[in-house]
Amino acid sequence: MAEPSSRRTQVGIVGAGPAGLVLGRLLDLQGIDSVILEARSREYVEKRVRAGVLEQGTVDLMQEMGVGDRMLAEGLVHHGIHLRFDRRDHHIAFDELTDGRGITIYGQQEVVKDLIAARLEADAPLHFEVEEVSLADLDSEQPLIRYRHEGEQRELRCDVIAGCDGFHGVCRETVPEGALRFHVRDYPFAWFGVLAEAPPSTEELIYCSSERGFALHSMRSPQLSRLYFQCDPDEKLEDWPDERIWEELHTRLEREDDWSLTEGPLVEKGITPMRAFVAEPMQYGRLYLAGDAVHIVPPTGAKGLNLAVSDVRVLAEALGRWFEGGDDSLLESYSDVCLRRVWRTQHFSWWMTWMLHRFPDDEDGFQAKLSRAQLEYVCSSKAAATTLAENYVGLSQVGSEA
Ligand code: APR
Ligand code: PHB
Repeated sequence: MAEPSSRRTQVGIVGAGPAGLVLGRLLDLQGIDSVILEARSREYVEKRVRAGVLEQGTVDLMQEMGVGDRMLAEGLVHHGIHLRFDRRDHHIAFDELTDGRGITIYGQQEVVKDLIAARLEADAPLHFEVEEVSLADLDSEQPLIRYRHEGEQRELRCDVIAGCDGFHGVCRETVPEGALRFHVRDYPFAWFGVLAEAPPSTEELIYCSSERGFALHSMRSPQLSRLYFQCDPDEKLEDWPDERIWEELHTRLEREDDWSLTEGPLVEKGITPMRAFVAEPMQYGRLYLAGDAVHIVPPTGAKGLNLAVSDVRVLAEALGRWFEGGDDSLLESYSDVCLRRVWRTQHFSWWMTWMLHRFPDDEDGFQAKLSRAQLEYVCSSKAAATTLAENYVGLSQVGSEA
């Protein structure tokens, strides 16, 4: 059998989602060599429809990385959201509650496209459609990634490996049993999501709590609406013809006045289970885990992408310090620093989910009454509204150096 072709790099990055691509860009800007390996094709990752809310910190970072031009031109800046219940809207004004901060609506796949273009432009290595990725020697000073690419067996020797390969990736699985602790919550519902070629029926996002469960009206552009509704986790796509989807959305999103939801062709449909998951610590030997590979949040707080970006920002700075002068103090604290934000975000995402969804096992309606009381409080108390607003736009500081 032929010997595998072998090369080395400073940082081997597994996965070209937002975590892997932002990390690659930040390393590139510091003159640190990296190779990104991605299982899917370029076309697939650029078309995959995911979330689309960028916190101010993520927007700022895109600009600092020199990849923010299209986002600034095409992204939709929002200064608040609507909470809809009892068929009435209540506006949460982020700008007034958080000293002028807001969010930008820009699809995750657009972020991914911009980062891929910048990486290829910089001539930095990014390989798509790699197969049979496996990691070895994580405890050593030269961990190894083995993979197949273009029909050839290859090996990549690294100083460190960044596991940015999402929830179903291989990196976390490679860590020896017992080295990580897992925290998991599966919610008893999922999100049915559609992309509609219809102008949004709202200027800002609507988070709606209705008798039939949660619904969300989001968007991607002035021509594209993104809509979701809470459904059973076992629901089947084929049981939902377009008319049934629209009927459900109309019923849930109904408002007491003459507001109406504009329909259009559905160009994408999917069901996403709702799960919270954290693996701790976010590091083993020379493997650093980031993004969905190490934590998942339910989408109600729109935090998945922002959390992934926040991890790799910490990691890039820590690697910069280490490669520059051998100081590993930031690498040592990587997991602790990130986990403070992860748990704050888990709490916020759980809180939003709990406040807005119907729980199927809520036989006497106790949970629904609590959610309703919380919604009323958020819509009547500035302190409660500020809690939602400052978490939604993204806290600049989380936790303190004890
Ligand atoms: N080898 C190489 N690449 C892999 C492998 C593997 N064995 N397994 C998975 N991948 C790739 C996936 O194809 C995907 O492109 O890793 C990438 C992981 O990207 P994401 O799942 O987008 O995860 P992350 O970069 O952490 O971004 C988190 O994505 O899931 C959303 O809503 C979530 O917004 C959040 C964001
Ligand atoms: C989206 O636009 O896809 C979106 C918006 C807000 C969320 C989740 C998803 O909370």
